[in-house]
Amino acid sequence: MSENITVFRTPEDMRAHSERARSAGSRVALVPTMGALHAGHLSLVDYARAQSDLLVVSIFVNPLQFDRADDLDAYPRTWEADSALCAAHGVDVIYAPTAHAMYPEGFASKVSVAGLVEGLCGAHRPGHFDGVTTVVSKLFNAVRPHLAVFGEKDYQQLKVISRMARDLDMGVEVVGRPTFREADGLAMSSRNVRLSPEERKHALCLRRALDKAQELAGQGHRDAAALKDAAAQEIEQTPGARLEYLEVVDADNLAPLSSLDGPARMALAVWLGSTRLIDNDALN
Ligand code: PAF
Repeated sequence: MSENITVFRTPEDMRAHSERARSAGSRVALVPTMGALHAGHLSLVDYARAQSDLLVVSIFVNPLQFDRADDLDAYPRTWEADSALCAAHGVDVIYAPTAHAMYPEGFASKVSVAGLVEGLCGAHRPGHFDGVTTVVSKLFNAVRPHLAVFGEKDYQQLKVISRMARDLDMGVEVVGRPTFREADGLAMSSRNVRLSPEERKHALCLRRALDKAQELAGQGHRDAAALKDAAAQEIEQTPGARLEYLEVVDADNLAPLSSLDGPARMALAVWLGSTRLIDNDALN
């Protein structure tokens, strides 16, 4: 790991460092991650680097947001590679709290956003978004960033966190950045490494489903049900793929839409074997 990267393991140490930087007039940016960094994360890091004087990447596999123990256990942990990538991309600080520092004995609080968490992934992963908003609040409190950068691949997460930051006057600008894709269109995800070569090929059905919906929307089709049917067919025709949900929602408040009258987004979740993948894209 680079000599220049500082690693903090407790919220107290992290905050003391950040407060000093803020007092000296530095602009602090945070890229929250659970590690297993890939080019998608690095695009967020590069963006944040250009916007900040002190750049913090947090790496914490947050048990609170996993609804399945096997998913938490299987989540890739690649500290050496992650810290080398952070060093290569000019990160100043890695905030990697221990589980005990994050959730000491007796921890009993929760941050929860209503409404936005009810559909899409929230409907299928009970408690997931409460886990996300709770940990992100704690990361914001420790890092005290002016700016926090998230990927649009987790579009619902981005909307939920933006809402939380506004509602709770957190004083953090939440920025969403475009989904970073492999050359063939698969959205980058830390979970992609779990796909077998066969599943990796079939995983392109998510992008194909979005392409189909975008093509129809581009031709002037406005009926959301027709778009969903056409997109779902792409998944159903793919061996080994199981559709968990596919929705057309208002791009801002995530309410399900019956027709494309304003900014809309298609979002879907698909299982390939034991791996769950999500993707989304704008429809207009
Ligand atoms: O998107 C993620 O990696 C996680 O949900 C986040 C935002 C780091 C919170 O644990």
